[in-house]
Amino acid sequence: MKFYAFDAYGTLFDVHSAVRRHAERLGPDAARLSEIWRNKQLEYTWIRTMSGTYVDFWTCTEQALDFAFAAVPSANKAVRDDLMDAYMELDCYDEVASVLKNLRESGAKTSILSNGTDTMLDAAIVSAGLDGLFDAVLSVDKLGQYKTVGATYQLVCNAFSCLPEDVSFQSSNRWDIAGATRFGFRTIWVNRTGQPDEYPDMAPAKIVSDLSALTE
Ligand code: LAC
Repeated sequence: MKFYAFDAYGTLFDVHSAVRRHAERLGPDAARLSEIWRNKQLEYTWIRTMSGTYVDFWTCTEQALDFAFAAVPSANKAVRDDLMDAYMELDCYDEVASVLKNLRESGAKTSILSNGTDTMLDAAIVSAGLDGLFDAVLSVDKLGQYKTVGATYQLVCNAFSCLPEDVSFQSSNRWDIAGATRFGFRTIWVNRTGQPDEYPDMAPAKIVSDLSALTE
């Protein structure tokens, strides 16, 4: 495979690292807050796309956090702005930098395809020390639609002038793998947390527990 496209949040960047950084101040329900925050953020992307009422991913993230705080009243609301700041500087997973380096050394082209805005992605890349490791950083923002709309995956083919079947797409989100498979990418599900499989008619070519399997 020559072209590798990576989902960002959950795949390269640990979305729960924001809450983890402030867990003590948030209190005992911090992990629940983080789960609700992430799930609502994603739900908003789907509903905004289906209803044609796009707002950008930063807004989805912010509105989801406000919902999460309302749903978990025990969590300390004073941490809200620090959590949003932390979302700009999420940790990346340990293996990410070396996998990207190895892929590029083997002649592959690497890219991010994400719901995140350019500003969010650029900040996350720099803070995680991944700058210079991507040939393209592609945000769906300019389309005004989120994954799993086919046009979002098409951004990768446009960037590299390649066909869907030339692209290996990696995501930890099983629903994203479903959409990317339907589009025609060769897909690798990065099942970091041992989730049960779903979408049997849109199955990944491969399931791995982290990205290091790509270059082993
Ligand atoms: C992204 C979300 C789906 O990076 O995690 O596109």
